[in-house]
Amino acid sequence: MKIWNEVAPRYHKRWAKGNRGPFQSTQRLVELISPTKGSIVLDLACGTGVVTKEISSKVGKMGFVIGADTSTTAIKIAKQWNKEKSNLDFVNADAEKFSFSTKFDIITCQYALFFFPNAQNALKNMRKNLKKTGMIGISVHGRKEKVPFFSSILDSVTKFIPDYVPPGTPDLDRFGTKSALRAEISKAGFSKITVKEFVFDYSPGKFEDYWKNYIKYVAKPLRERLNALGQSKRKELKELVKEKTSQYANNNEEIVFPWQVLILTAKY
Ligand SMILES: C[S@@+](CC[C@H](N)C(=O)[O-])C[C@H]1O[C@@H](n2cnc3c(N)ncnc32)[C@H](O)[C@@H]1O
Repeated sequence: MKIWNEVAPRYHKRWAKGNRGPFQSTQRLVELISPTKGSIVLDLACGTGVVTKEISSKVGKMGFVIGADTSTTAIKIAKQWNKEKSNLDFVNADAEKFSFSTKFDIITCQYALFFFPNAQNALKNMRKNLKKTGMIGISVHGRKEKVPFFSSILDSVTKFIPDYVPPGTPDLDRFGTKSALRAEISKAGFSKITVKEFVFDYSPGKFEDYWKNYIKYVAKPLRERLNALGQSKRKELKELVKEKTSQYANNNEEIVFPWQVLILTAKY
């Protein structure tokens, strides 16, 4: 929660707002769940509200969409960014504990399932809050080797700072294969599960931009650990990362990363 409160403004500006890189999935997710006029939707772990906003444009005045997230900063940005819309609202709620007095036609959850300490609790909770005719739509990142934006740095940094990612932190790619994602959703009781794979491009610019912006945008505790490395170790780390990214650089030295994303839909 602390990290998301700190990161939310940068996250919104760099990624979510402009539908960059993996956020090309927002459109795809909404197409797959196909909300119609009058649908009542919950966008769980809505962050700054990108998916929520897209859904609100489909459900019309008779429909409604609620964005729910634990980060107060993200909710604040989401409200600010969507203030002219009357068919949506944002609330602070935990995915593992929320409860609403109404049941939903659709529940979406983009890039958050892997963060929930107990994903089963969250999924069972989604099912409890879904109409029997309802459906869910969930987007997750693919396996780390299919998302080199993350792995080029993370695989290198752990050679220098083995506990860079604190022990016990859920892996970003823990549902990054079709079978792992399907198994988790099926275990929570959902049926008619379909998983589609997408590969989006993301260009962070030349290597120097990638490196500089990674450090600028990463959460403060991680940035502090990188800064504490010392000049020579940091240079070594930077070289190693550069080597890993070279395969994605074109003739103009612009890096273009592929980014694998899985989008699942399932019925109650
Ligand atoms: C990568 S962001 C995705 C946000 C949004 N769905 C999007 O596509 O831009 C992950 C979000 O999950 C939220 N989150 C993490 N754990 C949560 C929990 N237990 N309950 C609700 N939200 C949570 C974070 O606050 C953050 O906003």
